[in-house]
Amino acid sequence: MKGRLACLLACALLATPAGAQPVSATERAPEEETILPEGEGRSETFGYCTVCHDTALIRRSRFTRRQWDGLMDWMTERHGMNPLEGEFRVLIVDYLAQHFGPAQAPQRGRNPFLN
Ligand code: HEC
Repeated sequence: MKGRLACLLACALLATPAGAQPVSATERAPEEETILPEGEGRSETFGYCTVCHDTALIRRSRFTRRQWDGLMDWMTERHGMNPLEGEFRVLIVDYLAQHFGPAQAPQRGRNPFLN
């Protein structure tokens, strides 16, 4: 009898299709690359930077190129990001500095309630 119950439970778990997680009402849809402004390096930035957190941290930030560059080391040293090096680093840091630099206005226009 006990065995049968265990099977019922195990079989129910096994029968759940992979990826069929219940989605709560508060859970946000996964981000798409297009949430970032278009430009060279966007897909690399999106791919590399969204492993640990979504792009909200990036989008709300306004840093100089130098600060972005320093942040890459900080992320590696403090948070275990794979070191970004060479051309790939230049591509991503250039992209970040160009689109999320101090001169860029905060992204207010995207929220209809703030206009
Ligand atoms: C290995 C995991 C990891 C990866 C990969 C990663 N980050 Fe982070 N990042 C973190 C953690 C952890 C924090 C701190 C989060 C917090 O404070 O809530 C953080 C914080 C940040 C912040 C906020 C810093 C601040 O002080 O306001 C920015 C901006 C940021 N990350 C940008 C990026 C960018 C750009 C990339 C891609 C080059 C990236 N992250 C890749 C782990 C990562």
